[in-house]
Amino acid sequence: MPEAAAQIAALIRTIPDFPKPGIQFRDITTLLLDPAGLRLSVETMAAAVEGPIDLVAGIEARGFVFAPALALALGAGVLLIRKDGKLPGATIAEDYALEYGTDRIAMHADACAPGARVLLVDDLIATGGTARAAVRLIRKAGAIVQQAAFVVDLPDLGGAHALAEDGVRVHSLVA
Ligand code: PRP
Ligand code: ADE
Repeated sequence: MPEAAAQIAALIRTIPDFPKPGIQFRDITTLLLDPAGLRLSVETMAAAVEGPIDLVAGIEARGFVFAPALALALGAGVLLIRKDGKLPGATIAEDYALEYGTDRIAMHADACAPGARVLLVDDLIATGGTARAAVRLIRKAGAIVQQAAFVVDLPDLGGAHALAEDGVRVHSLVA
């Protein structure tokens, strides 16, 4: 594992059986508390991104922590992707599967200019259900999303692989 990845991995703690039995919850709040770890995470993600980016799309809630920091590093704006029902303007929405049932995310319909180059950001990709729905949403809005950045990838759950098949280059700091 590269030095930066090892440093970041050491700052992420695992809480067993949260939010339900059998889940190993990868908790990035400990990484956020560490100034050097936080800076290293943002700088490493920003360095991996290729080409100009107009907007960094953060997924509620933990994606909101990293999106503005990355946007400042990349000279981009921030696009909020929220759980449905939270945004005040006219929205477009996408459903996605959870382990049990479905959920829905939304964005403002007029948030991005057609052809805007969008980087998707979240703390973690597991099954990829959330990130893939976000990609569908951004593309429905007429923007281009070809890259996504995550602090943590859980490769056994296949989300990063599925996202790559959707035409998105995936940058993750630790697996
Ligand atoms: C977590 C995480 C990702 C998503 C990953 O969010 O922050 O958004 O799950 O899982 P997936 O790849 O299987 O879709 P969660 O839904 O727990 O919401 P939160 O950020 O509001 O806690
Ligand atoms: N979101 C989905 N799976 C997760 C996990 N194992 N840890 C933290 N967030 C998650």
